Amino acid sequence: MSIAPTDTLPERSMATQSNVRLNFTDGTKTVQVPADTTILEAATEAGVRLVSQCTVGTCGTCVGRVARGDVIMPEGRVYSLKKDEIDAGQRLLCQSHVRGDSEIDLDYPASMLDEYPVITATAKVGAIIWLGETAVELQLKLPKSVRFAFRAGQYVRMQVPGTDEWRSYSMASGERDRKKLTFTIRVLPTGVMSDYLRNNAVVGDRIEIEGPTGSFGLIDESGPVLMIAGGTGLAPMLSMLEKLQTARDEYPIRLVFGCSRETDLFHLDELEARQGFMSKLDVRVVVDEPTAVTGVLEGNPVSVLNAADVEHPLTSAYLCGPPAMLKAAEERLLELGMPAERIHAEQFLPS
Ligand code: FES
Repeated sequence: MSIAPTDTLPERSMATQSNVRLNFTDGTKTVQVPADTTILEAATEAGVRLVSQCTVGTCGTCVGRVARGDVIMPEGRVYSLKKDEIDAGQRLLCQSHVRGDSEIDLDYPASMLDEYPVITATAKVGAIIWLGETAVELQLKLPKSVRFAFRAGQYVRMQVPGTDEWRSYSMASGERDRKKLTFTIRVLPTGVMSDYLRNNAVVGDRIEIEGPTGSFGLIDESGPVLMIAGGTGLAPMLSMLEKLQTARDEYPIRLVFGCSRETDLFHLDELEARQGFMSKLDVRVVVDEPTAVTGVLEGNPVSVLNAADVEHPLTSAYLCGPPAMLKAAEERLLELGMPAERIHAEQFLPS
């Protein structure tokens, strides 16, 4: 989190509207943004859909990168972007105003939002499976009448039963499983979802969900794929691997998956099986202090990265895990020479 730089909001006396060109990965759209209106508000008004959720600057889903122009966020507020991310041109579009014509790069296709509309539904718990000491696989079944589709890498919000709290989780299941969704959830010592899963959850419980949302997912380009997952950050990678199983075969797919302890690891059998039928897949599993599990490396998902992982210029990196791991991984990839625009990250927060 960071406090925004000391910019001030545009004066109403400035030019009343500016043209903002939105560069999606599948094309561009231009919207006119009044000086006193955020880019997200103006885009919504113009019928151009952008990924967003909270609209108050805290969730980070509406992020875009300034390619040209002067795009500012009000001073003195707390945002989900860090100062170095803001310095690097990232902006939350639900909070951003423009001073003159501008251009914003977005890392998702405009078609995604039309293809995968947000729905709300009551799902039923189909299974609760403990995957290790600290992770649970939660299976949710959607009613037959609900039309739900998502892009691998996206997530849904779910209301924790018995509370007014909502939490967000990425689908670990593949895009083809539209009626049965699987989530891999870290169970912490405290936390509303953790408490529910540990103490109260039973098959048949009803859970309100809303989604899909988020822009994380495979960029539709050919080239090697490097996935870096910390803990339950493995979930969206599993969903993306299922897509890669049929979509892309000529380039290497590297997955680095790490947990603090061996007892926190999960889905090792599934990953091993995937390597059997995905000839280009290479999996590295890493923990702080390996002891018993064969083939597990010592270190963390960042320490085992090397130059060979990014040497192909078309390599795209996908990161999911706790904020500290994401920051370290991004820094390491940049240090290894990977262009910032090829690094795509999704962070998760306490459950
Ligand atoms: Fe949540 Fe903009 S929509 S930060």
